Amino acid sequence: MFQSVPLAPPDAILGLSEAFAKDPNPAKINLSIGVFCDETGKTPILATVKEAERRLLETEASKGYLPIDGSPAYAQAVQAMMFGAGHEVITSRRATTAHTPGGTAALRVAADLIKKNFPKATVWLSDPTWPNHPQIFDAAGVPTKVYPYFDATANGLAFDKTLAALGQVAAGDFVLLHGCCHNPTGIDPTVAQWKQIAGVLAARGATALVDFAYQGFGRGLAEDAAGLLAILQPGVEMLVCSSFSKNFGLYRERVGALTAVSKDAETAAKVQSQVKAVIRANYSNPPSHGGSIVATILGDAALRAQWEKELAAMRDRINGMRQLFVATLKAKGVARDFGFIERQLGMFSFSGLTKDQVQKLRDQYAIYMVGNGRINVAGMRPATMDRLCEAIKSVM
Ligand code: LMR
Repeated sequence: MFQSVPLAPPDAILGLSEAFAKDPNPAKINLSIGVFCDETGKTPILATVKEAERRLLETEASKGYLPIDGSPAYAQAVQAMMFGAGHEVITSRRATTAHTPGGTAALRVAADLIKKNFPKATVWLSDPTWPNHPQIFDAAGVPTKVYPYFDATANGLAFDKTLAALGQVAAGDFVLLHGCCHNPTGIDPTVAQWKQIAGVLAARGATALVDFAYQGFGRGLAEDAAGLLAILQPGVEMLVCSSFSKNFGLYRERVGALTAVSKDAETAAKVQSQVKAVIRANYSNPPSHGGSIVATILGDAALRAQWEKELAAMRDRINGMRQLFVATLKAKGVARDFGFIERQLGMFSFSGLTKDQVQKLRDQYAIYMVGNGRINVAGMRPATMDRLCEAIKSVM
C-alpha cells in the first residue's frame, strides 16, 4: 500500500535547514530559515525566558490539560501586547484569543474556521509571501488568490497595484496582510497606506487576516502594531495570527495565538466557540510551557522591562548587520546599489539575487538562502561577512 506514496518535495525553507545540516563544508553559512543568531552564530535563550522557566519549575503545580483555547492569563497578555492595554476591543470583550502551537497552527485554525463558516471565501495572499501560506490554506481546502505587493524595480511596495487589486476582492473574502516586517520582502506599508488599505477592505466588505509574527523586530513593539491598529476601527472585524517564536526566541516551544476581533461581545462568543471546535478536532488543546513563559514575562513589570531590552538588542543587531552587509558589498566594489537593504524591516532582506545565483552560492560556497533570494539578515555575522560578500560578488 505505502509503495504507491510519492516522495514529497522538500519544504522551501525547512528543507534547506535539513540540507544545511548535512553539508560537510566547515565554512557553511545558513541564511535561509528565519531564526535569530547572535554574533557567535548561536540562537540564544533569552535571560528573561530562563528566569520565567525557573519560576515555572518552582511554582507549576499540575500537568492537567489546559482549556481548549489555552489559559485566560495568556490570552489577556497577548491582547494587551498587540492592541495596548485598555484598547476598546479588549474592554468591549469583542476580542477573543486562543493559544495555538506557533503562528503556523494559528493560521491553520484560521483556515479551518474560514472553510467551515465561510465556505465561499477566498483568501488573498501578497505576491510574494511566506511559502507556507498557500500550503496551509490549500491543506484546509480554502482557495487562495494573490495581490501584487512588491515592486522589483524600485525595491519597494507596489502600492498603487496593491490597492487596485484589493479594490477587486469580493465581499466576504479575507485578505492576508503581514502586520509588520513583511516576509520575505521586509517592506511594510506606511501608517497612511495602512489606513488606505483599511478603507478599501471596508468598502469591499472584506476582512483582514493579519499574520503578526515579528512584533518588535521592525521599529518597536508599539510602532510595529500601528498597521494592525490602523485597520481596527470601531466595529471592524479581523483575525490575527500571532507568533512568539522570534520576539521571545521560543521557536521550538511553538507559541502562538489566534485572535478574532468580532463586531460585538455576543458575536465574539460564538466565533470563539467555533475556534474551539476547530482546535478540539485538530490538536485538542495547546501545550502549556511556551505560553506560560510568555504570560510570566508579560505579567511581571520588571521581567517585561528586561525582555523589552533583550528584544531591542536583537533588533539593533539585525540593523547593524544590514549596515555592515551593504557597506562590505560596496567596499568590495559590487556595482549594484544594495542600499535598499538598509531600508527593509525585520529579519529578512529580499536581495534581488536570482534563483541561479542562489543555487551557485549554495553549490560553490555552501551559503544557503531561500530560492527567491530571501536572506535571513539575523543569521549574518561580522566574522563571516567578508566571505559572504566575496561569494555574492563572484556569482553576480
Ligand atoms: C521563516 O520564514 O523562515 C520562518 O517563519 C520559519 C518557518 O517556519 O518558515
